[in-house]
Amino acid sequence: MLKRRLPRLLAALLVVAVLVIGAFAAFAWRTAIAPIAPPAAASFAAAQVEQGRILAAAGNCVACHHGSAGALAGGYPLKTGFGTIYSPNITSDADTGIGRWSLAAFTRAMHEGVARDGSHLFPALPYDHFTKVSDADVAAIYAWLMTQPAVRAVSPANTIPFPLNIRALQAGWKMLYFHPGRFVANPAKSAEWNRGAYLAEGIAHCGGCHTPRGALGAEKPDVAYAGAALNGWIAPPLTAANPAPVAWTAAALATYLRIGSEPQHGSAAGDMSGVVHVGMAALPDSDVRAIATYIADGNASATRSAGDAAALARAAAVVTSTTDPDARLYATACGSCHYAGGKPPGDARPDLALNTALWLDAPDNFIQVVLHGIGVHDGAPGVMMPGYGRGFSDADIARIAAYLRRTRTTLAPWHDVPGRIADIRKQSDSAS
Ligand code: HEC
Ligand code: HEC
Ligand code: HEC
Repeated sequence: MLKRRLPRLLAALLVVAVLVIGAFAAFAWRTAIAPIAPPAAASFAAAQVEQGRILAAAGNCVACHHGSAGALAGGYPLKTGFGTIYSPNITSDADTGIGRWSLAAFTRAMHEGVARDGSHLFPALPYDHFTKVSDADVAAIYAWLMTQPAVRAVSPANTIPFPLNIRALQAGWKMLYFHPGRFVANPAKSAEWNRGAYLAEGIAHCGGCHTPRGALGAEKPDVAYAGAALNGWIAPPLTAANPAPVAWTAAALATYLRIGSEPQHGSAAGDMSGVVHVGMAALPDSDVRAIATYIADGNASATRSAGDAAALARAAAVVTSTTDPDARLYATACGSCHYAGGKPPGDARPDLALNTALWLDAPDNFIQVVLHGIGVHDGAPGVMMPGYGRGFSDADIARIAAYLRRTRTTLAPWHDVPGRIADIRKQSDSAS
């Protein structure tokens, strides 16, 4: 019986397979949008171009699209769990950039992650956030891009392996994880809150780094802003789960996002440095405050602030022992700049007993800062911290880390700090 049924079963399966593939192909299919003659720079109003400059800065396009040929000329390698994606040239060059893209084609890329030729883009371009940006703001970014110098440059080919490199398959990813649509205001919240939410969720894509991702690389919406590891750093939780002993109020967030440092929390280094010094730097104070208002509303700072006085008192009572050898190593290496207990810290040097890096579950950010220091263009303006990566052994750094964790926090020791230091050193060597 089975023998006779088998061919019919196979034929039926084949028909189903063809139908499924056909349906998927129809679902994934996007038409090409006709190329245009590159628009003349003079065709855009100056005010629109200026608006676009600000938004492109807030979206930090340059962080991903820079390359050896220029700020927007592409070629920057984005390492993903699936291979390396090289950012494309988004200058107005007609042949190697997006000079022949119409506003409609550009808008479709930003809102739906589809290139001019109809192929699906990888979500390495944060179109899952840019989809929330208004048509007018996307048009302004287009105007700014089209008035920037055209640079001829071709990015290297991606190393995403077959079959993941089949762009049509991205349509499946979108079906599972992508919710296209402009930002919808929440009428129960203030205009300032909504402005902050619009910027943070959309163009500034804070969740792109601060929200944990699932196996296929999509942000998990149910744990938005819960903190995530990236590039050897931890983007700390921006929720009530943030471990800093003093709560992140809207005022503290606004200071941090404006100047890159906040005395009761810490400095913006690593990938956060560009967010502050390129992205936020372009926005007016009112927009930075709006983002701070939005984030502070989601982190329960209003109730958590009740613990601030106790945290500040505990930090002020810290004493650096003169007999403990670990304390002496710390005092010699770091004490000249970081307060050792008893007197208030300098404004631009975070009190280490209050510093988020020491309170995170993993020592990554602490290790990064000690290995590489904080440059004059990172953190607070004009101040810097030297790196200890060359002068200090992994064992020395691990001792200081363990000592500070033990005496500046009330938390359990970190696990395997030397192993983490070795990993981060290796990662930074291969990145440079
Ligand atoms: C986190 C990194 C990142 C950021 C931030 C980013 N991009 Fe991209 N973008 C990419 C990558 C990677 C691609 C290529 C995706 C692919 O190959 O599928 C891309 C593709 C594009 C494309 C399609 C170009 C083409 O030739 O197919 C456009 C247009 C674009 N980005 C514009 C922008 C603009 C405008 C901004 C700032 C508002 C921006 N991007 C910010 C990483 C980024
Ligand atoms: C490209 C990745 C990236 C993006 C985008 C990003 N962040 Fe961050 N953020 C980080 C990293 C990494 C750190 C840790 C920096 C450090 O400790 O020096 C950080 C730290 C922070 C901190 C300090 C938290 C603490 O407890 O110390 C705040 C607040 C913050 N980010 C807010 C934001 C907001 C608001 C946005 C959007 C406007 C944003 N971030 C966008 C990567 C990012
Ligand atoms: C020459 C002065 C100097 C020395 C020495 C120094 N630091 Fe710093 N440190 C700073 C300054 C300044 C900042 C804030 C930098 C900024 O905001 O730009 C800082 C910030 C930090 C931060 C906060 C980082 C963050 O992301 O919030 C940590 C942690 C830290 N230092 C640890 C250490 C340790 C450990 C040592 C000794 C191994 C040390 N520092 C030695 C000046 C110094």
